[in-house]
Amino acid sequence: MKDSDKSRRIRDMFGAIAGRYDFLNHFLSANLDRRWRKICVREIRERITVPAPMILDVGCGTADLSLAFARLGPVIGCDFCHPMLRIGAQKVLSRSGHQPVSLLGADALMLPFADASFDAVVSAFVLRNLSDIDRGLREMRRVLRPGGVMGFLEFGMPRTAFLAPLYRLYFLQVLPKLGELISGVEGPYGYLPASVQSFPPIEELKQKAECAGFRKVEYRLLTAGIAVLLLGSAGSD
Ligand SMILES: C[S@@+](CC[C@H](N)C(=O)[O-])C[C@H]1O[C@@H](n2cnc3c(N)ncnc32)[C@H](O)[C@@H]1O
Repeated sequence: MKDSDKSRRIRDMFGAIAGRYDFLNHFLSANLDRRWRKICVREIRERITVPAPMILDVGCGTADLSLAFARLGPVIGCDFCHPMLRIGAQKVLSRSGHQPVSLLGADALMLPFADASFDAVVSAFVLRNLSDIDRGLREMRRVLRPGGVMGFLEFGMPRTAFLAPLYRLYFLQVLPKLGELISGVEGPYGYLPASVQSFPPIEELKQKAECAGFRKVEYRLLTAGIAVLLLGSAGSD
């Protein structure tokens, strides 16, 4: 499949489920997604050295991660799916007491920002959707300032002997059916486990991030590896 075909398919798929996305996210993950975003914010906060950092949330979708990061500094969230952004914009308008959150339509593979524009670049559950992960990682590295930090959340597959078979049953059999039933859309919730299974393992993703120019790359397994958090910095060259 051509890169542009994959991008279009992904954009259409998120457009079709945008209205039910938040509910399904929280419901199908038993609210663990909220906890994972909080951990991402905490880890980035510990690494950031400047007050009121400028933060970029790539593939912000309905803006949950952008809103979580607005406690640290002004956030720009970008995504190429307008129905997702529209829901995010309503949420941004209804929240107060945060640093400003601005949302804009942009492709993660061609970010419309100058080099070294941000103190932190973050994303949640986006990398596996990119038609070219290496290019996406290079773009995110490009817009990060020297000394800036990155934090990328993704799904993983737990490896513990007890949890792995149970989770596989849930993730491969139950989740696609529930997702289809609740969203009323056939396809996306079958795509989710398929895309997680075909995604590079976290050790390989770490290497890809290093090749893209990130330094001090490390990862955390969250909830026994159901999610992973990749962390790193832009170095200070
Ligand atoms: C699983 S959702 C995650 C949304 C949000 N980050 C969250 O935590 O809920 C993936 C998002 O990535 C966006 N996305 C995928 N590929 C993209 C690309 N090339 N450029 C911009 N956004 C992209 C999709 O439109 C979708 O909103």
